[in-house]
Amino acid sequence: MTGNAHDPRLWTPQEVEEILRRHAGREGPLMPILGDVQAAFGHVPEGAVPIIAAALNLSRAEVHGVVSFYHDFRRAPASRPVVKLCRAEACQARGAEQLAPLLERDERIELETVYCLGLCASGPSALVGDQVYARLDETNVADLVALAARGSAL
Ligand code: FES
Repeated sequence: MTGNAHDPRLWTPQEVEEILRRHAGREGPLMPILGDVQAAFGHVPEGAVPIIAAALNLSRAEVHGVVSFYHDFRRAPASRPVVKLCRAEACQARGAEQLAPLLERDERIELETVYCLGLCASGPSALVGDQVYARLDETNVADLVALAARGSAL
């Protein structure tokens, strides 16, 4: 992982247009575009919405509607480092639900829920920045939180 995962980058219209170019010609590109915008900037900037809407021939309200509906999309940068805990079935069966309250209580990080990170056999799993962590338990999740809170290269 490079950089500090909770430190949102400034965005530029040119970068949003570059993301749009990467998805040109795809069917149903709104979700992947929003996902890439969020991955790049840590949120979907308000100013990016009209650019995306114009490129996809949608109204701003339609793009706003999708951003608002899906909780994974942020309209503002996270104020704390984000730990995304997988709470899909396989990770639940391996103890994710016991870890969730520990993460919720920790004021150094912000807990988000995701559904499957592709490491189902090694769960519980979590994502910090672009790094996936597996085999979490009550001990190593505390280490993960400490590293995430420091913004360390994990
Ligand atoms: S269910 Fe958690 S990684 Fe797949």
